[in-house]
Amino acid sequence: MMHKLPNRVFLGGDHGGFKLKKRLMETLPREFPDLQFEDLGTYDETSVNYPEYAAKVARRVSGGEGRGILICGSGIGVCITANKFSNVRAALAWDLASARLSREHNDANILCMGERLLDSELALEICRTWLGTEFEGGRHQLRVDMIHELEKGQSGGTS
Ligand code: RB5
Repeated sequence: MMHKLPNRVFLGGDHGGFKLKKRLMETLPREFPDLQFEDLGTYDETSVNYPEYAAKVARRVSGGEGRGILICGSGIGVCITANKFSNVRAALAWDLASARLSREHNDANILCMGERLLDSELALEICRTWLGTEFEGGRHQLRVDMIHELEKGQSGGTS
């Protein structure tokens, strides 16, 4: 085990991810009793704008409060948005290998999925894999540190 992740998991998404998020909220807390899951919306299928909900989750993850799971129609919009926040490494996963590698190699702290592109059983399995996989560290730590340095350069105004 490389480091201890906070045990909170924030879920969020737009109307395109509502049904899958509901399914995850009904299932994951039973399967992962040591983790505390919190649904940050949206709470129905009324059309909303995905950046708002991606930001709600990304802000909490950026502040070090826990991990996140974001869902929209494709998973792409929430992923792009979440990666605007410092300390966030949001990864789009479409199968078990991408979910596992995003943890082992990239230390992803937000999992993004597309409800319209994934069978819900596969999406659940992706979550189980992602939540259960540790970061490998080692040579991958250096690369994650490099991402962080780039981020500091952007916000700090260095060239
Ligand atoms: C909403 O229709 C859709 O554009 C959104 O859920 C997402 O797929 C954006 O990336």
